[in-house]
Amino acid sequence: MAFDPGTGVQKVLLPQPCILVIFGGDGDLSWRKLLPAVYNLNVDGALPSHFAVVCFGLASTKDELTLSNPDEYIRKRAKDGIQRFSRQPLDEGHWEDFSRALFFVPGSFNNAADYARLRAKLEAVDIQFGVPGSRVYYLSIPPQFVSMCVSQLRDARMVNDPDDEVRFTRTIVEKPIGRDLESARAVIKAVDQAFAESQTYRIDHYLGKETVQNLMVLRFANSIFEPLWNQKYIDHVQITVAEEEGLVRWDQSTSPPTMTASRVGYYEGVGALRDMVQNHILQILCTVAMEPPYSLDPDVVRDAKANVLHCLRPMTPEGVKTDVVRGQYIDGDEHGCLVPSYRHEVRRFFEQFPPEKRPSGWDNSVTETYVAMRVFIDNWRWSGVPFYLRTGKRLPKRSSEVAIQFRDVPSVLFNSRPEIPVDPTVLTIKVQPEEGLSMRIATKLPGPKVRIYPVKMEFNYASGFGATSPEAYERLVLDVMAGDATLFMRRDAVETAWQWVMPALEAWSRERVLNLPEYRAGTWGPVEADRLILADGRQWRTL
Ligand code: BG6
Repeated sequence: MAFDPGTGVQKVLLPQPCILVIFGGDGDLSWRKLLPAVYNLNVDGALPSHFAVVCFGLASTKDELTLSNPDEYIRKRAKDGIQRFSRQPLDEGHWEDFSRALFFVPGSFNNAADYARLRAKLEAVDIQFGVPGSRVYYLSIPPQFVSMCVSQLRDARMVNDPDDEVRFTRTIVEKPIGRDLESARAVIKAVDQAFAESQTYRIDHYLGKETVQNLMVLRFANSIFEPLWNQKYIDHVQITVAEEEGLVRWDQSTSPPTMTASRVGYYEGVGALRDMVQNHILQILCTVAMEPPYSLDPDVVRDAKANVLHCLRPMTPEGVKTDVVRGQYIDGDEHGCLVPSYRHEVRRFFEQFPPEKRPSGWDNSVTETYVAMRVFIDNWRWSGVPFYLRTGKRLPKRSSEVAIQFRDVPSVLFNSRPEIPVDPTVLTIKVQPEEGLSMRIATKLPGPKVRIYPVKMEFNYASGFGATSPEAYERLVLDVMAGDATLFMRRDAVETAWQWVMPALEAWSRERVLNLPEYRAGTWGPVEADRLILADGRQWRTL
């Protein structure tokens, strides 16, 4: 959504012809999310008329197919990813059409000659598909490669002037943007040296989720919520992002179970605070808590969100102890199968490497796979309202929601007997997987006596709209092709979010604990997290 300041009318931005160049195009994110997302856009007829995808990456140069026919290599990989993960099932007709415009250039991120080959390939694809030379560079690569990648692009003269709207170049920077404030600033600076801010799209895919976008519509397109959306009527807010998956996938049919996929290499030493809270959860929090923006102009919306980050009560070393709980899963049960502890998974993963390549502490990891926290936003609207945030891996189910709990009704009439309190009204925005909304309200149980019973009024996206919602990446990639930055993070937001989590990261690194609070895989987190909220006379919602 964008807004024309001259006319006051919302501008409809259309995706423009371009080549989507995915750095790390043969990696995990591209296989699971990006290529399936672009395939779905193709099926829905949403892509620009002149469009192609070129993946660039290291690939396995030992792989015969990569050497002899790189395009065939990526098409095979993409087809496999689409068959497994696509929102819409693979249709041979659409696949033919999509795969025709999918290419691969094997190369290294720091080799100028490889960029020259990439450039030549892009120019050939421009001619074949009638693309005017516009590019969207998707940096789906670890942060340590970003700097070399963007400077190679600049040196290879593959970045056009920001004012060139016919042959535009834009870049999408995937998270994690750094691993702390300092490294995030370094990544941001490196990108800044090659691209203007107007060409840079820092992605947080949670902002592309339908239900997260709907939060703004719910708040600002209905007159009943906004007057109640403040400390006067809201008791507290809970934001939960629960994941069932751990960091390793095990094939339980073998004895002993074998590791089939692992994210340990990325996650170890990163942990839940950096991986989920600093970005996804804070972005949801900003959308829930922001003041109404005066227009839908990208910067006006992003200013409103950034203001929330500025109002977050800073964490003190003492506050880290009282308001933040971290935990790590130990072995437990997943759908009736025993799954090992995170520590075991880390050991098994790094045992595959020679000792000099293993990180310190690899055999007794203290990386958190769970975080719960109590947060306050110090402004007039939210003064005194706690926001409870929690996220974790290997929890009982995949379920993410925002729950707004309203204040109790006064202790008169129906709420006058402390032994039978009336359940408070709760508005729940279900982010995933069953996207929807629900409102818990008190009603009278039918019968001669007045007995109060909580009921739920529910709206479910799938049954309400009869179709699956587009994946977040579909929407976001399309927005970049259209030049709409509303749902992307500005550099100040990234930095402020890092600034806010730093005291916790620093306190933890000073503490050097030997063990973290534990929770069994398949349970709702450590008992310390229950104590955190119970201390306020509240409890975590049952999901
Ligand atoms: C990613 C994190 O950003 O988001 C992962 O790195 C996490 O650890 C994922 O699993 C969750 O995304 P989604 O869309 O599946 O909720």
